[in-house]
Amino acid sequence: MTVTPDLRDANAVARAVGLPEAPEIWRRTWPQSADSFGAGEVFFLTEDWVPRACEALRVSQEVTTALQDCAAAVRESPAMQRLAWHLHWLLCLSGLSPEVSAWPRLSDDHPAGPMLYGLVVLSGWPHLREIHAARGLDLEITLDTMSDLDTWTRDWHAWEGGYRFTALGWMQHHLRGQLLQLGRLQYLPGSYHHAFRWYRHTSTGRVIALAEDGLLFREDGQFASADGSSVRRGLWRSSFTETVSRVTGQPVTPEGKVLPEAVTLDTAEWCEVLRRGDPVMTVHIPSRGRMDPASCGESFARAVAVYREHYPDVPYRAFTCQSWLLDPQFEQLDPAPPNICAFMQEWYLHPVERAAEEQTWERVFDLFGHSQPDWENAPQDTSLRRALVAFARQGGHMRGGGGVIFPKDVGDWGRQGYRARGGVA
Ligand SMILES: CC(C)(COP(=O)(O)OP(=O)(O)OC[C@H]1O[C@@H](n2cnc3c(N)ncnc32)[C@H](O)[C@@H]1OP(=O)(O)O)[C@@H](O)C(=O)NCCC(=O)NCCS
Repeated sequence: MTVTPDLRDANAVARAVGLPEAPEIWRRTWPQSADSFGAGEVFFLTEDWVPRACEALRVSQEVTTALQDCAAAVRESPAMQRLAWHLHWLLCLSGLSPEVSAWPRLSDDHPAGPMLYGLVVLSGWPHLREIHAARGLDLEITLDTMSDLDTWTRDWHAWEGGYRFTALGWMQHHLRGQLLQLGRLQYLPGSYHHAFRWYRHTSTGRVIALAEDGLLFREDGQFASADGSSVRRGLWRSSFTETVSRVTGQPVTPEGKVLPEAVTLDTAEWCEVLRRGDPVMTVHIPSRGRMDPASCGESFARAVAVYREHYPDVPYRAFTCQSWLLDPQFEQLDPAPPNICAFMQEWYLHPVERAAEEQTWERVFDLFGHSQPDWENAPQDTSLRRALVAFARQGGHMRGGGGVIFPKDVGDWGRQGYRARGGVA
């Protein structure tokens, strides 16, 4: 017979669910969720709540079953019920920072372990709906935003087998109403952190990026820190100077290379539009089906409209993205992946510090947390996989990149506007 631990003691509950102890954030906040907890009364643990929520959110059958099984196992254990309630309270109701990076991986030995955090995320959806409704957002946006629960659980299944939800750090942004999925893409407010200064010509609208001062670059316009700092020859350092009337610095081409010849911009004609520390809207691409270019353009147009109408208090100067998808080398692959290239060509690209290939291998060969693919046995069932295996065998190294799109230019989607107008003065 299992003995119910003292439910007032976070450590005792943690031990009862197979953990050595409760993390500090659980212990510190534990008493605060005690009054609102009643064994057998947790709303998301009633028998029909999970299937109904999953139906409303269009969660796939296999993930619904995994969440239902998890809820059934939680119902069996007063310790699990108390923990599930505390985590729901901490993540969705408390208004505190839930410090999810300290939440331990729950043991597979307990049947509720692998999906408990997924269940907690699901439990947050009525609250998220209230947050979105208060902003005047349609139900469809809430449903699309919550679809990441299904996406990440299914991705885990594809990578590792079995159902486990591990994307809590990511989905905390969704549950607090910070991240929105608008059609094909997702948006999360952030702060610009790359070492480039961006200018727009006041009459032509042309955009140009200049590198900040004192950065080390390679001959090919990548940061010296790219590819594990493996290239040491031909390095050069950027210089940036600024007066009231002129800025001088090395420009970035819209294709993402920093050029060694400096250019000078007259500040009567060029207006600064973005620099480090400015508010931006970071863009994310969920792994849900293909990414056709038109749907991405529609998503950007919608983002401009939604943030203007519903979040006038959330300023942002540009859309930004850092991803394995923004590697200009995709254009050289044989065959070049059409949607990835079309997406990339709309951005004003720039190199990123410490650019590396790991994310490409993770995302293309499902190698999360593992090493580089074994090229002899790597799967070759898509044209991208085949092209990347050939590229790697020839000694190539893919690497992530960054990009910027200004809200003003979103209407140009599909015309490769930054490339067409050229970045370099
Ligand atoms: C981004 C994404 C939707 C692009 O897919 P897409 O629209 O099919 O892209 P393309 O049309 O350019 O693909 C061309 C080919 O490459 C394949 N391909 C694209 N992405 C692939 C991937 N991640 N793994 C394996 N093959 C892939 C396609 O299936 C297609 O193959 P085919 O010619 O044999 O039919 C897809 O890569 C994806 O879901 N990635 C996961 C999410 C992600 O990486 N987000 C960004 C995180 S920073």
